[in-house]
Amino acid sequence: MSNLNIKLAVITGACGGIGAAYARQLAGSGYDLLLIDRNSTQLAELAHSLNITYGISPKTIVADFCDADAIDALAISLAKLEHITMFINTAGFSENTLFEDEKMDFIMTMIDVHIIAMIKLTHAALPCMLKQKSGAIITVSSLGAFLPAPKSSVYSATKAFINNFMTSLHTEVSGKGIQVQALCPGLTHTNFHKTKNNRRFSKHFFINPWMQPEDVVKISLKKLSSKRVICIPGFVNKLIRVASTLLPRKLYYQIAMKLA
Ligand SMILES: NC(=O)c1ccc[n+]([C@@H]2O[C@H](COP(=O)([O-])OP(=O)(O)OC[C@H]3O[C@@H](n4cnc5c(N)ncnc54)[C@H](OP(=O)(O)O)[C@@H]3O)[C@@H](O)[C@H]2O)c1
Repeated sequence: MSNLNIKLAVITGACGGIGAAYARQLAGSGYDLLLIDRNSTQLAELAHSLNITYGISPKTIVADFCDADAIDALAISLAKLEHITMFINTAGFSENTLFEDEKMDFIMTMIDVHIIAMIKLTHAALPCMLKQKSGAIITVSSLGAFLPAPKSSVYSATKAFINNFMTSLHTEVSGKGIQVQALCPGLTHTNFHKTKNNRRFSKHFFINPWMQPEDVVKISLKKLSSKRVICIPGFVNKLIRVASTLLPRKLYYQIAMKLA
């Protein structure tokens, strides 16, 4: 079988709730996988469970995205791949501290993971897709990109960066056979919210905005063929997005401060 007959998806943050959901759904659709994350044990466990369930043998690469050398080495490895059907950036983490109280290390790590690594790896994966005149690039952004709020300043800003970057990229490559999507999930049941003191959203809503990662990913993959770059999964999340633009700014800021 030639390489062009193989469907390969490269997934960062692969062991996370959303990353692993992409891995399972794509494995179920016949994809080979290259899984990237920073925890070697979790990566091995995920690869093993995908092997048992789907009969595939995913490759794995361990890389911590705050390590510039590791990212550069990973970018070189991606650039050497002969075929990439899908490149999915999901690595990320949350924030729950006022900007004034945040350590600079934490801020720089968030920028490294959400922006620097994503840009370098996307740049490394793109030439292969351009050459094959096909492919898809998904970066997991957030509904938070549209909802600047206290204790979310760097997170929200990095995710807004992702949305603008992916939208610009779409304008450059959509005519070249490449699909681009910035997935903007709202509250999703993953480890993302299990970090210390980050359970703030669970009690504040009258309607339940929470989604399962499998449902979020199903929508992402289904919507990939549409011309829309920004994908907001779920009716409640779309409602929140629309409401946030319609609310008078003063009221929006009051609600944002109350939720923080
Ligand atoms: N869950 C939500 O409610 C929600 C909402 C909106 C957007 N998102 C976005 O969805 C994406 C996936 O998050 P998730 O919900 O699936 O959370 P998750 O379960 O915590 O998964 C995030 C993954 O990224 C990895 N990661 C974090 N820092 C890294 C680093 N320095 N180097 C390499 N990998 C790193 C994590 O590894 P470790 O486990 O080792 O930390 C984990 O495997 C994130 O970009 C997040 O911003 C999530």
